[in-house]
Amino acid sequence: MTVRSLGYLHLDTDDVPAWRTFAGDFLGLMEAAGSADDADGAENVVTYRLDHYPARLVVHAAAAPGVRAIGFEVDDRRALGDLVDRLEARGVEVVAGSAELAADRRVSGLVCFEDPAGIPVEAFYGPVLDHEPLLTPTVSAFVTGSQGMGHVIVSAPDVRASYDFYVDVLGFWERNSMKAGPDDLYFMACNERHHTLGLLPMPGPGRLVHLMVEAASLDDVGHALDRAEDLEVPMMQRLGRHTNDHMVSFYVTSPEGYAVEFGWGGLRIPEQGPTYEITRGAFWGHRPPTG
Ligand SMILES: [Fe+2]
Repeated sequence: MTVRSLGYLHLDTDDVPAWRTFAGDFLGLMEAAGSADDADGAENVVTYRLDHYPARLVVHAAAAPGVRAIGFEVDDRRALGDLVDRLEARGVEVVAGSAELAADRRVSGLVCFEDPAGIPVEAFYGPVLDHEPLLTPTVSAFVTGSQGMGHVIVSAPDVRASYDFYVDVLGFWERNSMKAGPDDLYFMACNERHHTLGLLPMPGPGRLVHLMVEAASLDDVGHALDRAEDLEVPMMQRLGRHTNDHMVSFYVTSPEGYAVEFGWGGLRIPEQGPTYEITRGAFWGHRPPTG
């Protein structure tokens, strides 16, 4: 086991206020200390907590939107060193994270590299924990801990290359697949969360496609549905239950068009087991919006 969980996600946006509405008001994440304003009062960094990690989702003002970093957590300095050895043995260029970058990410140490699709990935250890109580007035709690902050799906133009990279180097394993055109979409695990990473075959360049956060109760999903309607957050897929992780969830469109899933009740699978192929995404629901 190498990567333990999805640790953080840093996004660039040209519309920070839209993200404040989306991540704070709609998703119900806690805006944390560390959000910063420019001298002219414009917001330039907004940091969100889901738990005692200080910076799970961080939104940066930038000229062009995109993914700044997907952060995966490893156990400690030694695990990070072992990972660097494996990356370099595979010919991957690894950049050591500076002290300034570690301070920005609020971790003890990190390295930066790209996955085969060109997606900026960081591996870190030692989150610098925030012991102030988490205040999420619209969500009872988020399911994190050893399962990390949720899951992401990224595009993988050469899906076999990405699959081999995440399995052989980062230590993921396949939970299941699903036909996606001539290639397969793969759902990959690194802990008891059914999947932490999805690899979607689609033409490059590589990019973030999807983020999921999991709340602690079904009522949290219902309240989030109400907030989506009240805040006019664009619905992508209505309430449904997935066939692979059994998550009850719905999907909305974030600023910049990421598919963001708000869910509850995802499977916990303690062991690595045999893979399987699903033939549809949902037992029920997850239908497109009406009207
Ligand atoms: Fe998902």
